[in-house]
Amino acid sequence: MTDLLPRPAVFAPADGSFPLSPGTPVSGPAELVDGVRLALAVLDPRPAEAGTIVVERDAALDAEAYTLEVTATGVRITAGDRAGAFYAGQTLRQLLPHGAFRTVAQAGWTVPCGRVEDAPRFSWRGVHLDVARHFLPKREVLRMVDLMAAHKLNRLHLHLVDDQGWRVESRVAPRLHEVASHRPRTITSHHKDDPVYDEVPHGGYYTLDDLAEIAAYARARAVTVVPEIDVPGHASAILAAYPSLDARATGGREPEPFPVLDRWGISPAILSPLPPTVDFLTSVIDEIRGALGETPYVHLGGDECVLDDWAASAEIVAFQEELGLESLSGLHAWFLRRLADLLAERGSRAIVWDEAFVSGMLRPDTIVMPWRGPGVARRAAEAGHDVVQTPVFPLYFDYAETSSEEEPLAIGDAITVSDVATFAPAPESWTAEQREHVLGAQFQLWSERLPDGRAVDYRAWPRGCALAEVVWSGSAGPGFGERLEGHLGRLDALGVEYRPPAGPRPWQLGGTGRRRHRPGVVKVDEVMGHLEEMTHLADSTRPSM
Ligand code: ACM
Repeated sequence: MTDLLPRPAVFAPADGSFPLSPGTPVSGPAELVDGVRLALAVLDPRPAEAGTIVVERDAALDAEAYTLEVTATGVRITAGDRAGAFYAGQTLRQLLPHGAFRTVAQAGWTVPCGRVEDAPRFSWRGVHLDVARHFLPKREVLRMVDLMAAHKLNRLHLHLVDDQGWRVESRVAPRLHEVASHRPRTITSHHKDDPVYDEVPHGGYYTLDDLAEIAAYARARAVTVVPEIDVPGHASAILAAYPSLDARATGGREPEPFPVLDRWGISPAILSPLPPTVDFLTSVIDEIRGALGETPYVHLGGDECVLDDWAASAEIVAFQEELGLESLSGLHAWFLRRLADLLAERGSRAIVWDEAFVSGMLRPDTIVMPWRGPGVARRAAEAGHDVVQTPVFPLYFDYAETSSEEEPLAIGDAITVSDVATFAPAPESWTAEQREHVLGAQFQLWSERLPDGRAVDYRAWPRGCALAEVVWSGSAGPGFGERLEGHLGRLDALGVEYRPPAGPRPWQLGGTGRRRHRPGVVKVDEVMGHLEEMTHLADSTRPSM
């Protein structure tokens, strides 16, 4: 009946129910009451001296933990922090009819009596949005925060720059938003076919005020925004705006500037690692951190770097030698380490994709996102790094759920709900110390083939429900499948255009034109088969179109 998702640690139903009507009074410490009110906004609970919902602080409870007790006389919540109170409110919302996931309350709602004791298994429960390949307007980002909160997900990783676009206003480097935020057209042909372009401009960026709003909105919902400025590779857009930072522009050379890229795959564009680039990035990242407010994490990327333009630059090679580094891969490591040190001085912890771990020299406190699979994940944990699991399989949600022409175009196939539900972020086969380094996991929505929010909905859910259960509850089950079926009624009430378990709705089909998926062109199991051998910086699973 209750279909709680993610599954709480303890749920003990009791006989009877309690009515909860709009404007119901809530009492307790203001900070915790605020969290409960936000989670239950549909009921518009009113702060009062004596609530029918009573919230109490219990300092003995861990971060994000809570208890929730519904009896015939009222609701009692205890939490150690605001996030715990917020999550108690989210669970209470799930105990109400699915209408509680609409914006308007109905009279006559009741919640079943019972007791919930709950705390998350993992502290990092994330969603990654690639807003660079296709821009996702602010309203969609705020909506994703709401959907995350409903699933007790708490880290929103925004991939703010890639070859195809830069997505934030900059007052210190205005050409970033003026020039790098848009491209004149986008490739639409299928992988390996002759290239065809749509000849339609694409772009957009968040103003610093937008970013501040997103961060505050997220923070109020227990979500931390993690900005990613992916460097030194994936640099076409930055270099379109500031060609002087191009590795090819060292030594007084003046190469033809890169355009903002209009197709996919790995580009050779790479920033120079020389001090002016570090200064530039520091001031831009400072500006973004300033807009976000408290920024515990900044992701520096570091993936898929083609070092050819570094090798071709006498000045860059001389710089490497001056630093006493043996290789350009060491210089890649040095560059990211330098930025991570500057972040540490400012109180932010650096995060990198696993290439930066492979190239060595990370600060011990740098968090690694091992996208190329369990082998490199375990090696990073063994080396003492905290790890957030981001493997292509099963957490790259830009792969289709089935290998079928009915699917809309995806980078490859297939990753199912059940693949996600059986994922173990901290595998039993690892040592206890390695497992302790696993902060959690997140799903990735790379957006080469996700043009808008409707496409994001289709790929994110219900696979995201499965990941939410894995990272909150530790594993999916028991009864995950049945609970998910019930939970989809909440997503319907929220207006989420998820992929139905039986397959796409008629208007979600790939059709026969350019949106048709090509089954088997890129198979995720074959991609995974190559991952263990991928130790070179530029190794990738991302085919060009
Ligand atoms: C990645 O997929 N290049 C992190």
